[in-house]
Amino acid sequence: MMPMIRWVGLMLAVSMTPIAMGAGSTGSGSTGAGATQVGATEVGSAEAGATKAAVCMACHGPNGNSVNEQWPSLAGQNAAYIEGQLNHFHDRSRINEIMWGLAAALTPQDIKDLAVYFSQQTSTGLEADPSYWQAGEKLYRGGDRTRSIPACMACHGPVGRGNPAAGYPMLRAQHSVYTIEQLTNYAADKRYTHTDKGDSSGGANAAIMHTIASRLTPEDMRNLASYVQGMR
Ligand code: HEC
Ligand code: HEC
Repeated sequence: MMPMIRWVGLMLAVSMTPIAMGAGSTGSGSTGAGATQVGATEVGSAEAGATKAAVCMACHGPNGNSVNEQWPSLAGQNAAYIEGQLNHFHDRSRINEIMWGLAAALTPQDIKDLAVYFSQQTSTGLEADPSYWQAGEKLYRGGDRTRSIPACMACHGPVGRGNPAAGYPMLRAQHSVYTIEQLTNYAADKRYTHTDKGDSSGGANAAIMHTIASRLTPEDMRNLASYVQGMR
């Protein structure tokens, strides 16, 4: 995986903007951060997390399989990514008032337990919209060199499982409505309180997605979101 990630980092770095420079320089740095998080989650307990997750399931669904397309599924998502995002909601760097309220009272131990619990749940899967998934697959797997869009597959994996060691999120079986919303937010610098010139309150990972999402059209986002929703 590493050589491919480096290559993508390089591609972002050489493709013009200062933002891209920031993202490019994180090729090895973000992996280092991810490794630290993975180490830290080893002390999380799925058993303790199961009890603490009762409140979450009202929105994120039974065992983390959301039935509301605005609310993301968490089942099977990697623990490092979940832990990172809960910390971002806890310190209010990722913008969502509902999650601010829920994450405010969570301790670092709660966050680790919840992350491990949801990472061990089984994703039930969803269907893609047949009108869009083929165009989405093409971009997901191959990128588009003419527009400096890297293949999503390089970081999110051939079947969308993400990269748990690096803390890169799983995308498969995620609601397309949620995915479009996130891509739109990354592009417009609205997922985090501050994403500017590669220096982001969401960290280096957020800067990577800001760079990539800002090169996507609304149609690209719709197609990609449809494709990943149906991934098994
Ligand atoms: C009242 C509904 C609601 C409840 C209850 C809730 N969430 Fe959320 N959660 C959301 C919404 C809405 C989002 C999407 C935020 C956005 O669009 O940025 C979200 C996003 C998340 C994310 C980010 C997922 C991703 O793929 O980036 C995580 C992790 C998360 N919630 C964990 C939890 C945990 C753990 C609990 C229980 C302590 C919980 N949530 C309770 C509504 C809820
Ligand atoms: C160089 C690696 C890399 C590439 C290439 C990449 N991503 Fe990402 N992606 C990430 C990282 C890292 C994150 C987590 C960012 C954060 O912390 O906010 C992420 C987050 C996301 C999210 C948010 C997931 C959630 O649950 O909220 C979506 C959606 C996404 N990427 C879609 C894509 C698509 C579509 C492409 C291809 C056009 C793509 N990514 C290409 C690294 C990458």
